[in-house]
Amino acid sequence: MKNQILVTGGTGYIGSHTVVELQQAGFDVVIVDNLCNSKAEVVDNIEKITGIRPQFECFDLTERQAVRDFFGKYKQIKAIIHFAALKAVGESVSKPLEYYRNNLTALMNILEAMRDFGVPNIVFSSSCTVYGQPEHLPVTESTPRLPAESPYGNTKAISEDIIRDFCKATQGVSAIALRYFNPIGAHPSALIGEAPVGVPNNLVPYITQTAAGIRQQLSVFGNDYNTPDGTPIRDYINVVDLSKAHVVAINRLLNGSNKANYEYFNIGTGRGLSVMELVNAFIKSTGVDLNYKIVGRRAGDIEKIWADTSLANNELGWKAEKNIEETLLSAWNWEKNVRGIK
Ligand code: NAD
Ligand code: UFG
Repeated sequence: MKNQILVTGGTGYIGSHTVVELQQAGFDVVIVDNLCNSKAEVVDNIEKITGIRPQFECFDLTERQAVRDFFGKYKQIKAIIHFAALKAVGESVSKPLEYYRNNLTALMNILEAMRDFGVPNIVFSSSCTVYGQPEHLPVTESTPRLPAESPYGNTKAISEDIIRDFCKATQGVSAIALRYFNPIGAHPSALIGEAPVGVPNNLVPYITQTAAGIRQQLSVFGNDYNTPDGTPIRDYINVVDLSKAHVVAINRLLNGSNKANYEYFNIGTGRGLSVMELVNAFIKSTGVDLNYKIVGRRAGDIEKIWADTSLANNELGWKAEKNIEETLLSAWNWEKNVRGIK
């Protein structure tokens, strides 16, 4: 019998790609999502890619009884990947309570259900945001976490701590937190990808929407940083590579090869790219010209960060494989598919 995995937030951007990778690795997947930032048709598109329809339950994970009813019904779940969260950094500054309530209450309901229903394993979506602007680069897992810049970032740091304490106190449970750097790109089928609601906050969706003519111009937020070309540096990781790291983490937990019952790993490429390098790579790989303008800095942005991925490479045996050109091309193919552009 296939091992059954619960993927919360499974109709979302990273969740949907991970469901595909899990199914292709032979897992049976159940998705829970309340569709507050995704669409039910993603389930159809997952099925088009894999030929297997994941089970889908639509409810809000902040509702404690609904979570308990779910685990009462699905008794075979061997592990959880917990993606479901609100993630807009700027919005979290103006709506802190909504962010703390959604992200922390959902997590605690799930952990409580793990304890009460005997589900032993969880993989958690964390973020490199927990490092703030680090003093030394690249960041390793021993780089100290810094106070979060936003309520969103704080929910990630607090969630990591809650999971650590829960694992310490609860026999038979194990967790892996994956600290993602900047996920970009889409599935090569162009059937699933990032579908931001309204004006995108993130760089790559803004680029692809500008290239598609939906936005007039990309604003490059600042070229006066202390970096070679003056624009900020990030570690952009292909979403399919990132999704595969979840399959590896799940296997590690299921076969008990984890070295502690709470572990955390950086998931990036190990390579930093500036905003202008990314813009130029987009133009080069797609052949589409991009209208952009250098404007002032965006409040709260950090200058530069990229990952030391040695721990994930050596301990998990996972490595990012796709290059930036094919990743940007995948993002553009997805945008074209969504917009009906030939
Ligand atoms: P997303 O918004 O596309 O997916 C999250 C999904 O969770 C959505 O489908 C949403 O409807 C669902 N959801 C939110 N609250 C819920 C609730 N209370 N009950 C049920 N469903 C709920 O986001 P994503 O980019 O796929 O991110 C997935 C995870 O990875 C999040 O935890 C996010 O914080 C984390 N992360 C994302 C990035 C990034 O840049 N995309 C970087 C680091 C970490
Ligand atoms: N940028 C622009 N123009 C835009 C959008 C972004 O120049 O229109 C620049 C930003 O200033 C930044 C870089 O592109 O220098 C990347 O910005 P993103 O918004 O794409 O990504 P961030 O690194 O700011 O934040 C992302 C996620 C957060 C997460 C963080 C760390 O959005 O949720 O990575 O994981 F916390």
